[in-house]
Amino acid sequence: MSDIAFSRREALAGLSALSLTACAGTAAPAASSPAPGEGLHAIAQRKGLRFGSAIAYGAEGSDSGSIGNPEYRRIIERECGLVVAENEMKWQAIRPGPDQYNFAAFDAIVRYAKAKGLDIRGHTLLWHRPKWLPEWVNTYDYGARPATEAARLITSHIETVTRRYRGVIHSYDVVNELFDDQTGAFVDTSLSKAMGSHEAVVDLAFHTARAELPGAELVYNDYMSWEPGHANHRAGVLRLLEGFRRRGVPCDALGIQSHIEMRTIDRKTGIGPYDLKEWRAFCDDVTGMGYRLLLTEFDVKDNGLPADYAARDAGVANYTRAYMEVMLAYPQLRDILAWGMVDKYSWLQGFAPRADGLPQRCCPYGDDYRPHPMRAALAELFAGAAPRA
Ligand code: XIL
Repeated sequence: MSDIAFSRREALAGLSALSLTACAGTAAPAASSPAPGEGLHAIAQRKGLRFGSAIAYGAEGSDSGSIGNPEYRRIIERECGLVVAENEMKWQAIRPGPDQYNFAAFDAIVRYAKAKGLDIRGHTLLWHRPKWLPEWVNTYDYGARPATEAARLITSHIETVTRRYRGVIHSYDVVNELFDDQTGAFVDTSLSKAMGSHEAVVDLAFHTARAELPGAELVYNDYMSWEPGHANHRAGVLRLLEGFRRRGVPCDALGIQSHIEMRTIDRKTGIGPYDLKEWRAFCDDVTGMGYRLLLTEFDVKDNGLPADYAARDAGVANYTRAYMEVMLAYPQLRDILAWGMVDKYSWLQGFAPRADGLPQRCCPYGDDYRPHPMRAALAELFAGAAPRA
């Protein structure tokens, strides 16, 4: 599919058409609007929802989306009720060797969150991708009894982390990203090869976490999404979640990363295409099996939108609205986390650069720490959401 260049006029026209359709649609949102100055989490909380963001570690004064940046902290403290470490709890950060741990950076984030009364989610006990595992795991010599040794590496990791943060972290992404997103097949790591199957790895991870944390929320987290092209990925995730139920694996919820993207633009709506029917069927199947939902890493790629900032920000806000209206209709959804609050610190600037070289406007706040229309859209959506029990 080629990117469709869009003029500012077309984009804005598409947007008003979309809001008209939204108004003419089914139920109007509840007549409740955010109070001026109220933070996103405070608005969300009135409906039994929580809003949060990823945050990084940085030394005081650092120019990053981190606990070391006073301006970033101000936004986090104003808008969020929970945080998640962007990288600092991953194996690459805390497990420099088979029997070594380093919690310094993550502990600093935990101390910050506690001091500010913010909840903290654990991400992630196992990111099942060679690229995101420490090199020592990828080249590890598992010896004569590989399955036993792999199981030891996994259990010791999960026990060490969950014990250290017992009473502090109540929700974990136990396993992250198991699938090839094109085929929906499992991706191998040295751990799955040593254990003989992916199920052996994943089941062990969830059982170990549950044994340590009987009351915690245990989540499988992945980036299957609502855009065209995700059908195989969604099918793989569904098979996994069905398997969990059959085998009695203690997984409570699906973390939908929600890195939603507008690579191309649908001329009728002025925003990116999405497979609404298929996506709802997927979410219905997941919740139908008794899983809760979380949106764990929300941001919006704006690659298909025009360079013009006003048109782009309006498009991002409208795509956010379309997506969140669908997701907030699920009473099983309570937690919504942005993957960063300020554009310039977003991973997307490196991961999904625009063809015109301009920065992504993917987060609730711009580089000047002023809110984007996306932020107002989120506030309205949370204020209009049906209250959770
Ligand atoms: C990303 C971080 O934002 C980057 O800084 C890092 O280089 C790679 O990981 N899915 C996930 C997150 O589960 O952990 C990823 O975070 C983004 C995609």
